Order: sequence, then C-alpha cells, then structure tokens
Amino acid sequence: MSYNLLKGKRGIIFGALDENSIAWKTAERVHEEGGKFVLTNAPIAMRMGQINALAEKTGSEIIPADATNLEDLENLVTKSVEILGGKLDFVLHSIGMSVNVRKGKAYTDQNYDWTQKGWDVSAVSFHKTMQTLYKNDAMSEWGSIVALTYMAAQRVFPDYNDMADNKAYLESIARSFGYFFGKEKKVRVNTISQSPTPTTAGQGVKGFDGFINYAEKMSPLGNATALDCANYTVTLFSDLTKRVTLQNLYNDGGFSNVGVSQEVIDGFSTDK
Ligand code: NAI
Repeated sequence: MSYNLLKGKRGIIFGALDENSIAWKTAERVHEEGGKFVLTNAPIAMRMGQINALAEKTGSEIIPADATNLEDLENLVTKSVEILGGKLDFVLHSIGMSVNVRKGKAYTDQNYDWTQKGWDVSAVSFHKTMQTLYKNDAMSEWGSIVALTYMAAQRVFPDYNDMADNKAYLESIARSFGYFFGKEKKVRVNTISQSPTPTTAGQGVKGFDGFINYAEKMSPLGNATALDCANYTVTLFSDLTKRVTLQNLYNDGGFSNVGVSQEVIDGFSTDK
C-alpha cells in the first residue's frame, strides 16, 4: 500500500546487490511512496548484482561508487544532486562486509589488514559518506540519513566476529555526526538495528541458519523481514519523524528486550 509519504523527495540508496538485499526492498518501497533516487554500489558489485533491473523498475540512474573512496563519493554526491535536480532529502547506507568472516578467520585470530578493510567498508564509509554530503551542503533541511546495524554491537554473538565491532563503531558515528548534522543543517541521522535477514551479507555469517531460527523463536512478533526494514526506513525518511535523531532503533520483533521465550525454555526443559 502506498501513502505518498515521500512525494517530491530525492535521495541516494547504497547497497542494493540483488532482490534479497534490504536496500533493494527499500528502493522499491521508496519508489512506491513517490521518492526519486540514485542507486549506487561498489563497481565490483555492479558486475555481480542485478541492479540494472531495479534501476529500470524504479526509473533511477546508477552511479557506481566504492563507499571507502572519497573521490567516488564526491562524484556520487555532486552528480546525484544534478540528476535529481536539487539537494537530497534522504540517504540509505546499507553496506557491510568483513574479510575475516568471508575467509573464515576466527575473532581470536584476526588478520588485521582484513580487520581494517572491513572496518573501512562497514563503518568508516558511513562517516565518509556523511562528510561528503556535509561539505557539499548536499542535504536539504529536515533531511534524513539512515544506516543499518545489528544487535551484536550491544551483545555478544560469537560468530558475528569483527562485524560486531564495526557495527558498534557505525552506531557511534551516527550519534557523533548526527549532532553536527542536526545543529548545523537540521538533518537527522539514525541507525536501524535489524533482525537476522537472509541476504548475501547475512548468510555470510557462520551458522546463520541456527542464528535466524533462534531469533525467530525469541521474538514475540517473529523476525523482521527485509520488507519490514524497508517500511521502517520509509517512515524515517518521511516528515512524520522529523525530530527523531541520534537513535539506534530496533526493528527486530521485540528480540532485543526478551530474556528468554517459552519456546526456547521448552527446548531445554527436562520435564515430561
Ligand atoms: P547485501 O549483501 O545484500 O548488502 C550489502 C551491500 O554492501 C552489497 O550491496 C555490497 O555490494 C555493498 N558493499 C560492500 N562493499 C562495498 C563498498 N566498498 N562500497 C559500496 N558498497 C559496498 O546484504 P544486506 O543484509 O542487505 O546488508 C545491508 C546492511 O544491513 C548491512 O549493513 C548489514 O550489515 C545490515 N544488516 C543485515 C542483517 C542481515 O541479517 N542480513 C541484520 C542486520 C543488519
């Protein structure tokens, strides 16, 4: 259902790799709500992904950018403003990658070159993106910037590896940059902490199957889907959430506030 919540709004959506991507669903929902945007992803992901189909469907242009590269980001931001015909109202940062996770390195046996690469891609890229937007004065007043995160930033999930640290850093950047963006440009910055979701990045986590099933059983409302995340992001891009900023917002079916659920207790009970 469409409510025209984003009519006349312009933005950039990072991270749509394939139709499972949270950014893909978000692009579809933003389009349905009347928003216009530029799609972007790392040049290498363009070759692997199906982003052209999404661009066609949503009437969007694609500008490749490695989100760790400042020249790419500068080009992306200035061209997006040109293409869309004005300053931006929304930006979605939906980017994550750990080389240690990909290559099966344990948290206690990290290759620090890989740690640094994953940190740059998953966390610092958010600072770089915001700094580029800020210096170019590319955001409209009351604009909204959202990045996606996971609860491993607050609590231990052993197989989430160094991504837990990257997410903690990402959430801190949202608060720190959000302060300046709010004070000086009236722009809000938030992170959405999403349930485990079966995407390329999600399924890269060891034992993802057990992980997602456990979360499902622990959450009173069940796991939030990629579409649920897209819908929540639409509300944060809309004018209905103008003074929500510097927040880490859980979209997780209640998981983060549950100690244990009856289903999980039943799984451990020795009573007949
Ligand atoms: P995905 O694999 O579809 O998206 C990750 C995206 O990051 C891909 O499009 C990839 O090309 C992009 N990317 C990687 N390196 C990049 C670079 N250097 N420059 C620009 N883009 C780059 O997976 P998903 O799950 O949609 O991930 C989106 C976000 O949601 C990530 O931040 C992820 O950590 C977060 N998240 C995912 C959860 C899950 O269980 N899938 C749970 C909570 C948060």
